[in-house]
Amino acid sequence: MSDKIAVYPGSFDPVTNGHIDIIKRSSRIFSKVIVAILNNYEKVPLFTVEERIDLIRKALCTDKGIEITSFDGLLVDFAASVKARIIVRGLREVSDFEYEFQMALMNRRLNESIETVFMMPKAEYSYLSSSVIREIASLNGNIKGLVPENVREALLKTLNQK
Ligand code: COA
Repeated sequence: MSDKIAVYPGSFDPVTNGHIDIIKRSSRIFSKVIVAILNNYEKVPLFTVEERIDLIRKALCTDKGIEITSFDGLLVDFAASVKARIIVRGLREVSDFEYEFQMALMNRRLNESIETVFMMPKAEYSYLSSSVIREIASLNGNIKGLVPENVREALLKTLNQK
């Protein structure tokens, strides 16, 4: 396992500028950041996993040292399978803390050798979430500057088709 490889997991339905901010910050610290999209069979997402991978890839353009993939099962097992010792999570508000604290300690119990590292996004993104973005876009609100431009276009297209 390497402490130079980090996994940044989430649903990313869709990726927001807050997520992109965390990915870029992490990639300045770790030599490889693996953005890992959970294949969550319990939820009906707006974008398929393949679409979400593609949206993140296009939003990041030329960033080196960043991989985007999906995973099933336990996060710690996925991290171990890609030889990552670090899980990156974004902390937006104090309200994120309780959930993140529980998850970090449970993941540590499941695999002692994996550490969770928390990073703060830019303050201007601290109130963002994917569901808020989906809701505003579906009600024709302005999401410019909150998500990458390719994500904004994909949202408008997908929501218009529904
Ligand atoms: N900027 C903007 N929004 C952010 C953000 C940031 N930096 N960080 C998180 N968010 C938002 C997401 O958009 C999402 O919003 P939504 O609920 O409105 O869609 C919300 O915060 C939740 O974040 P997300 O990163 O998608 O986490 P999650 O809670 O859906 O997923 C996993 C967490 C995937 C890491 C977790 O479920 C997991 O590890 N699952 C695998 C199974 C497992 O190992 N379980 C045991 C865990 S202890």
